[in-house]
Order: sequence, then structure tokens, then C-alpha cells
Amino acid sequence: MCGIFGITSKRRSDIGHILVEGAEKLTYRGYDTVGVATVYKGKILLRKDRGKFDEVATKLRLAEMPGSKGIAQLRWATFGAPSKVNAQPHYDCDEDLCGAHNGNIVNYLPLREQYTGEGHTIRSMNDGEICVHAVERYYDKSGDMVEAIQKGCGDLHGDYAFAIMNMKDDKVYAVKMGSSLFAGIGKGETCVSSDLPSILPVTRRIINVLDGEMVILSPERVELRRINDGAPIEREPYTSDADIRVAQKGGYPHFMLKEIHEQASSTRSLFSAIREPFVTQFEDALLDAKRIFFVACGSSYNATVVASYYLNALAKLPSISVVGGQFVSMYGESVGEDDVVVCVSQSGETKDVIDVVHHCRNRNARILSVVNVLGSTLTQLSHLYLPLGCGFEISVPATKTYTSQVTLFSYLATRMGLRRGTLARETGEGLLNDLQKRLPPLIEQTIATTEIKARALAPYLANYPHFYVLGYGLTHGVALEGALKIKEVCYIVADGMYSSEFKHGPLSIVTNGYPIVFTVAPNDSEELVNHLSEVECRGARIILTGEDHPLLRRYVAEENYLVVPNSNHYLSPILQVIPLQLLAYYLATYKNIDPDYPRNISKTLTVR
Ligand code: M6R
Repeated sequence: MCGIFGITSKRRSDIGHILVEGAEKLTYRGYDTVGVATVYKGKILLRKDRGKFDEVATKLRLAEMPGSKGIAQLRWATFGAPSKVNAQPHYDCDEDLCGAHNGNIVNYLPLREQYTGEGHTIRSMNDGEICVHAVERYYDKSGDMVEAIQKGCGDLHGDYAFAIMNMKDDKVYAVKMGSSLFAGIGKGETCVSSDLPSILPVTRRIINVLDGEMVILSPERVELRRINDGAPIEREPYTSDADIRVAQKGGYPHFMLKEIHEQASSTRSLFSAIREPFVTQFEDALLDAKRIFFVACGSSYNATVVASYYLNALAKLPSISVVGGQFVSMYGESVGEDDVVVCVSQSGETKDVIDVVHHCRNRNARILSVVNVLGSTLTQLSHLYLPLGCGFEISVPATKTYTSQVTLFSYLATRMGLRRGTLARETGEGLLNDLQKRLPPLIEQTIATTEIKARALAPYLANYPHFYVLGYGLTHGVALEGALKIKEVCYIVADGMYSSEFKHGPLSIVTNGYPIVFTVAPNDSEELVNHLSEVECRGARIILTGEDHPLLRRYVAEENYLVVPNSNHYLSPILQVIPLQLLAYYLATYKNIDPDYPRNISKTLTVR
């Protein structure tokens, strides 16, 4: 939620277009409002409004804003409606400071009351403005930005990052207190951002800012300090090799479609990203654990549901998948040093997951994680993490990261099955080979054979405000994921559930023509006959993703059968999500919804 980007340069006086370029790369983080502030001729210029990035940038001519330093912000609204006045950045009272934040200030209301009582002019209902006034209160007394920021942060409660500048110097200041922040060191310019895609066009020399740290950007250098006592911190920059082309559409109409098509290559890069001895250490920790908890949200959670089935089927290991926000109230009192908590997150910033990490670390549980964004808060807080190596996933709906998460868990489960002797050597080694070698071409084939049919189903499905996606065993999580994609980008209430559970109530919804989507792993085809029959005899229109099977063919008309290539029981669930992603994509575009930026959603949710 929300993205901030700040830059100071001694080379440029046309900073507006760099800010726009940087901000554009953060649009996936928030698209309720857009704002840019620059310092020009000793004054702070500020332009902002509600609306989509391109529209606001064009209307307000943001790229033309002059100056050598500035801050841009993309907002995903929590405190204060999406409106011009609540858009960030914000001025302080006398307009000599200006700043923007990402995250939440939870004591915003009492601070607002206090500061107003002290005579501050607070113009918005947005908590980002409070950060600026918190600094102003001290800056007006001492004229020292660093001290004012340190003291201001002492007054703010919550998880956030913010950037602030004053009109008198050439610096941009930023802090990380729970939300992501990266600094970049270019030639004659430095910058700071919530995420790397906006920094990489400026420089590849990166410093990861850690929680509790302040970064002071001057055009020539980046200085890090501890916020609590101002002590300087030495940290060498590293060179990022992230592929910046990934952050461009590359001829596809949307990032979502591009990222669906990238899944063959992203599952390949998974196996170059994960390295020994870390994979073995990861498995050792799981094998030694008294209990294994998977903790994640949204698509990442759905991937953990599939993971639990894999661990059971292949390694005979029990595990518990829990939604991030539920964990503490469900298991928090019993979690302890013998437990392993595996946190799974694309962004590595999801607050509901980070809260669990803090809780479990305090209780000495071991924290493992599976993360796509390296340098994210979750990688910093974990005892051990495995990267997904997917590159940037720009579209708000997760696609390729989900597939890589599931692929990784099937790989780990197979290896642990071999180590525990729960899998025959030949079967296990065959499966490892399948995952590394056969999966990418099978993904390509799946797209080739299902894309046209998925697209053709869109007009029919668009007639229904709700329908079901049912899975069984290994495809349970696949059904949850397919349903989530459809809800998220098509604004249709698609309910994902376990297919044997459907008869316990929801079956009553079925009338003639009512769509039910099934996802079926090969060995479960016979098992599914009951579930298919009970909806078919009540007139449901069955849409099915699975391998070609004569039994299943009896229930599904050709045009509704999204046939994935033959592989095996364990590989097939990885493939089966792809037609469901395509279904969601084409249904969204049929309904004229931009699937990359679904209404009300942000890619990175750093609020509770
Ligand atoms: O970055 P994370 O994997 O922690 O994000 C978790 C969810 O917010 C995310 O998967 C969300 O559900 C997706 N937008 C769904 O497509």
C-alpha cells in the first residue's frame, strides 16, 4: 500500500520527469491519488490529485515540474478518503517542509487533536500529514532536520516509512519504521524508494535501509543513521542485477497477461535462485520441527494450502496453513521454540505476516520464509529464507509468484520424502526431474491449449454475479486461488471450496446453467465423479480444468473442458491454476476492468 520515491540531484534541474518515471513504477502499490513535490528557487512546489497515475500526471503536467530534488507519492487510501486534499505529499503549516509516507500512523487521531490544539494547520484527514507536522514541531525549535526527524518519529506509532524535504537544503530525508525502503546511489544523484523498480532507472547501486534507520540523501552521498540515538551506520551498497525489462509490458496489453505467460521462465529461474546449503538447511529445520506452521495471506496463503497437501502426500509430514491475520489469536499462545513458522510472501512486506514474525520471534520460534522481494522486511527478520527468483511482479494479482511458491513446496516436499524414505527413490527422483525439466514446457503447452477456451468462456461467466470453484486434495488450494483471482480482477463473488463440502449447504444454489468450475488432479478423477454428478443432475454447467480423462468427459462439454497436458498427479495441480488465471484475465478484460489495477486493492499491504 502506497509508494514513495524521493530524489536529490546536482545534475538536473528538471527533476519532475525523473519523479514521474519513478512514481510510475510504483503504481502497483496504490492508485487512489498521485502527488509530486519539488523544490525550485527556494520554494516547494506541490501538485497532487485523485485519479489514475497517467491521468493525474498528464493533467497536472507533473513531468514538467522544475527543481533538483523532490518527492512523489502513490496512495492506497486507508486514513482519509481518496481525494485531492488527502493526496500526498503534504506541506507543513508554513510550507517550508513537505513529505509523504507509506504505512499507518495508528495514533494519528490523538496526534491530530494535539497538534491542532497547539496551533498547527492540518489540512487533510490523512495520517501521512501527521508525519510532516511531527517533524515540523521540533524543526521549528531547533532548525535541525535530523534531530527533528528523530524526535518526530518518537511521537509516531505504527509501521511506516516516510520521506521529507525542506526548502532550504539539497537533501531528502527518509525513515524506515516497518515499511519497505531502499536507497540508491547514482552519479551526482541519490534516491530513496519503497521498491527497486523506481530506483533502477537512476542507479543499480543499492543500500537496503533497515527498520529503525534514517537515510539522509545528498546528491553525492547517502548517510545512514540510527533513529533512536542518531548513531551513524556504515553499510556498503550492493549492485542489483534485477532485470528492469520485467517492469515493462513487453508488447502485452497488461502486466497480468505478460506475467501469466512468464510462468515457464519464472519456474525455471526458481531453480537457479535457490541454492545449497540453504535448501538443505530449510528442510533440516522443517524435519526437526515439532510443528510446522505456514503463515501467509491471499495468493501466498493459497500456495501454502497446496504446500500442506504436498507435505502430507510426499513426505508424510503434518503442517498447518494459517492466514496471517488469524495466526496470533489461533496459535499465538502455544507457539514456541520447537516450532517452525514458514512465512510465505511475494512482497515480504505484508503486515499481517510481519506481525506474526515479531510475535513468534519473541517466543523463540524459528522463522523461515519464502520471499520474492530480496531485501524486504521479511528477509531481514527471518532466520533463513529461500528466494523465488521471479523478478518483479508488477500486476496486482499474483500469478507467477504463486506458481513458483507451489513449485518450490512440491520440490521441498519431494526432497524431504526422499530423505525420510516416504517416497520410493525412483518416484522421488522422477518428480524432482519433472519439476526442474518438464514443468516449464508443460506450462507453455498449458497456455497454448487453454487460452482460447478460457477467453471464449468469458461472455457466459460474465452473466453471473457469483459462482463456485471447487477443488479436491491437491487442487483445493488451486480452487481457492482461481476463485481469488476471479474475485479480485472480475468483481464476481467466486467462492473457492473443497468439493466434498459443497453438498453441505451451497449445493442449494445450483439451478439450470449455473456455472461450477472444477479443478481435478489426475488420481482424483474417480473420486470426483460423485461431486460432478450431484451438480450435473441439478443442471449446473460444469467447467473443468484437468487432464483429459474419459470419466470426466462425460460431465463436461468440449468448450468447457480446459484440458491441461498429461503429466502426473503432483505436477498437474501446478499447471491447473493457469487456465483459471486466464479465465480471470479474460473475464476482467471482457468486463472492461483493468486487471493490473483492480479497484480498491494494493499489491503490497503494509497495514493490519
Ligand atoms: O506480498 P504477499 O504475497 O504477502 O501478498 C499477499 C496478498 O496480499 C496477495 O497475495 C494478494 O492476495 C494478491 N493480490 C492476490 O492476487
